[in-house]
Amino acid sequence: MRKKVTVVGAGNVGANCALRIAGKELADVVLVDIVEGVPQGKGLDILESGPVEGYDVNVIGANDYEATANSDIVVITAGFPRKPGMSRDDLLLANYEIVKTATEQAVKYSPNSILVLVTNPLDAMCWTAFQISKFSKNRVIGMAGVLDTARFRTFIAQELGVSVSNVTALVLGGHGDTMVPISRLTNVSGIPLSELLDQATIDRLVDRARNGGAEIVKYLKTGSAYYAPSAAAVEMVESILKDQKKVLPCAAYLEGEYGIKDLFVGVPIKLGSRGIEKIYEIKLQADEQAALAKSAAAVKELIEVIKTKM
Ligand code: APR
Repeated sequence: MRKKVTVVGAGNVGANCALRIAGKELADVVLVDIVEGVPQGKGLDILESGPVEGYDVNVIGANDYEATANSDIVVITAGFPRKPGMSRDDLLLANYEIVKTATEQAVKYSPNSILVLVTNPLDAMCWTAFQISKFSKNRVIGMAGVLDTARFRTFIAQELGVSVSNVTALVLGGHGDTMVPISRLTNVSGIPLSELLDQATIDRLVDRARNGGAEIVKYLKTGSAYYAPSAAAVEMVESILKDQKKVLPCAAYLEGEYGIKDLFVGVPIKLGSRGIEKIYEIKLQADEQAALAKSAAAVKELIEVIKTKM
């Protein structure tokens, strides 16, 4: 049986997810959006790239979910992006309604799927999808850490003039200004970052990674990043479909790990065909634990707002 992935939202992130999934021949793709014609047009356009690029999967677009039936994965990117001066949290209530609808439809047509959330504010949208879908916790996963670490790795590689492929980084916490890049566990081919850069430089790079999304919003003015976010989401899709069991930082539902309960927060997980197959709970230093607790508290504040709407 061919694999099938639904991408909800045919905007910048969604269309690029569809293009990357097709380009890697991971699955047939159904692109869904509320705007009439847009998912159909973009889907056809991506399909017509196949003969040139040499990929052979089916890509279609739709305004309803019938064509999405029996998807293996539903990637939810539908929702408003940030504009300059906005935080991800400013999107909360508008995107809550959108993610709620998308989740209901995903559950109705693809009851055995795995949900990969991209819509911001990410951790709160994961919690929404988890509550609405009633899926087991291994089947609701948020894309944040792969993107945040990609940004951190990019800045470290640039600073050192080395290949990004040699830089391994870990970012924990919510996908917001309070995210917690763990520079102590970041290394370049096994060499700790502290051996290569002074603390002031490391702090500057951590800060840039934390504000990596806002940096792009400031340039684009009319929206937020989409090339790196779609690449990150598709790395997760690939790890699930191919049962690669990659260890990636993703938003996962925690039930006491890291002292956090009933929240989605970014942690290292093993990602395979069953979704989240393991959550790695690593020993943190006191300052790291405190920063993570602060980040979780920021996520909790948003959840409290959502609870009043449910
Ligand atoms: N169902 C399906 N699609 C919807 C719905 C809905 N209920 N509501 C809105 N959309 C669609 C819009 O029509 C639009 O095509 O979602 C798409 C969003 O696309 P963009 O505006 O280009 O936003 P994008 O950059 O893709 O970001 C989407 O991902 O990274 C996050 O913060 C970002 O929350 C934002 C989301």
